[in-house]
Amino acid sequence: MHYSVSKTNFGDKPSFDYPKPIFLEEMGEEKLKKLFSDFYDLVADSDIGNFFPQDEKELDKIKAHNVKFFIEACGGEKHYTNAVGHFDMLKTHEQFSITEKARREWLGCMEEVLRKVDISDEAKQSFWDFLEVFSKHTVNVDERQELEDLVVKKG
Ligand code: HEM
Repeated sequence: MHYSVSKTNFGDKPSFDYPKPIFLEEMGEEKLKKLFSDFYDLVADSDIGNFFPQDEKELDKIKAHNVKFFIEACGGEKHYTNAVGHFDMLKTHEQFSITEKARREWLGCMEEVLRKVDISDEAKQSFWDFLEVFSKHTVNVDERQELEDLVVKKG
């Protein structure tokens, strides 16, 4: 199992595969819900915690809602599409300013919780690979451009 993270070339929208069916088969919905509950607890405490509610009840709502997307993405019931009416995660993230650094923080939290899950490497790897590539699509702020703008402003 390798938790490698490759760099996002800003603007690139690389193609990706959804996780293999064995991931959800091995995890089951309950374990997946627990995984995301632990994940959002970590995220709320992380460097991207400012994006998320700090109130426990509000965070519980996020956990319950967001995991529907992951169940569906892993080949399970279409709970997310049924609730929201679409499956467009990229549009959903447009409202937040997400840098490569934020993406890496997100993936770092995911690595931490995924390491504790006891399923086959094949299943885990296919979930990780999906997240690693898919998350590139959520990056919508070019850190390098921001730095250059700062340098220009400073003169
Ligand atoms: C693999 C990559 C990612 C996936 C699959 C993903 C998935 C999701 C899903 C399913 C939702 C719920 C959307 C809805 O409201 O219906 C969500 C919301 C959100 N995501 Fe992501 N996300 C990813 C990466 C990121 C990253 C890198 C950030 C960085 C900050 C981020 C920040 C957020 C925030 C702030 C919300 C809104 C939470 C709220 O409702 O308060 N996401 N994401």
